[in-house]
Amino acid sequence: MPNTRDEAYWQAIAQRYDLEPGPINLENGYFGRMSRAVLAQYQEHVAFINRSNSVHVRQRFEQGENEQIRRQLAELIHTDPEAVAFTRNATEALQSLIRNYNRLQPGDQVLISDLEYDTVKGAMRWLAGYRGVEVIEVSHAHPASFDSLVQAYRDTFSRYPRLKLMALTYVTHRTGLVMPVEAIAQAAQEHGVDVILDGAHALGQIDFDLAQLGISFAGFNLHKWIGAPLTLGFLYIAPQRLADIDPDMGEFHYPATDVRARTSYSTPNFPALMTLPLVFEEHRALGGASAKGARVKYLRDLWVSQVRPVPGVEVLTSDDPRLYCAITAFKFTGRDQQVMADRLLDEYNLFTTLRSGAAFGTCIRVTPGLVTSAADIGVLVNAITRLNAD
Ligand SMILES: Cc1ncc(COP(=O)(O)O)c(C=O)c1O
Repeated sequence: MPNTRDEAYWQAIAQRYDLEPGPINLENGYFGRMSRAVLAQYQEHVAFINRSNSVHVRQRFEQGENEQIRRQLAELIHTDPEAVAFTRNATEALQSLIRNYNRLQPGDQVLISDLEYDTVKGAMRWLAGYRGVEVIEVSHAHPASFDSLVQAYRDTFSRYPRLKLMALTYVTHRTGLVMPVEAIAQAAQEHGVDVILDGAHALGQIDFDLAQLGISFAGFNLHKWIGAPLTLGFLYIAPQRLADIDPDMGEFHYPATDVRARTSYSTPNFPALMTLPLVFEEHRALGGASAKGARVKYLRDLWVSQVRPVPGVEVLTSDDPRLYCAITAFKFTGRDQQVMADRLLDEYNLFTTLRSGAAFGTCIRVTPGLVTSAADIGVLVNAITRLNAD
């Protein structure tokens, strides 16, 4: 595995990506970049499919190319092709799982926390009217520890015995907190609660095995940390649980025994899908999620270790290595976070983003990526300490 601190090595990797001149981008969590090679191939595929139109799609793509790509996707997450179906993004995958989970009866309870993604919260709340369930909403205590998170779920399961289904976010988009998924899924199983895992930020920066985690239902995208073109995601259903998710809105193009019936049948972004073999090859060549994840965690540690001790700066994400990844959020205590984020940009050329909606309030989210250097992190540390002292 490459040394996470080897700046020369990682700057050579960074050279594979084209960057628009502008601010130092510390908001790499929204979506990822394609490498120059992936972009070039994607553009070729766009031009080719535009020329060939349905001829290539009907004669080749639908006659086996699509299956090969699906097999490669399954390999990426160490599962069988029968467990995965492409979607356009994580939201589509998660909404389908939530909408079509068929084991809920009126009066059952479903669970979300303040750290879930808003569209997931919305879809789970929608189940109240659609399935007649009660939606239980909990806020996580802050700061959280591995044990406190697991205990919070254990307590919730005991308090609400009619719970049947919960949403769980692997990497929360507000603070980058990495949930102890395996331990929570174990506790959920003991209480007869099914988990729908939102893996949007996990894929590509955390190496995981869904079967080992005890997860039967999950949604992902491929455009954050894998480096694929935008508009690709997928859902995962453990094959032995397929019958618990109905075909999506009467979907009939695939038999009910096929996971692909759990998404809408539509014309996909063929050129993007056709680019995936190269995307996966590059991901593997970089050392996969463990190498990429280790590099971005190192960059995260570099700034957090220097600003966490500073009075007036509150880093919201745990330092337990099991509980964080690239993304980490912080606050300038008692200040208007929007003003401070604007000052980071205007005075120090640092592009970050604000996140709100969790119990701890608005925070500034910092997400280094593969193109981020240790020098960029130095600019951030200097900016935070100076603005804090100002
Ligand atoms: C935690 C989380 N879940 C879901 C999503 C939605 O992903 P997509 O844009 O692929 O639908 C995001 C996007 O940022 C996210 O951060």
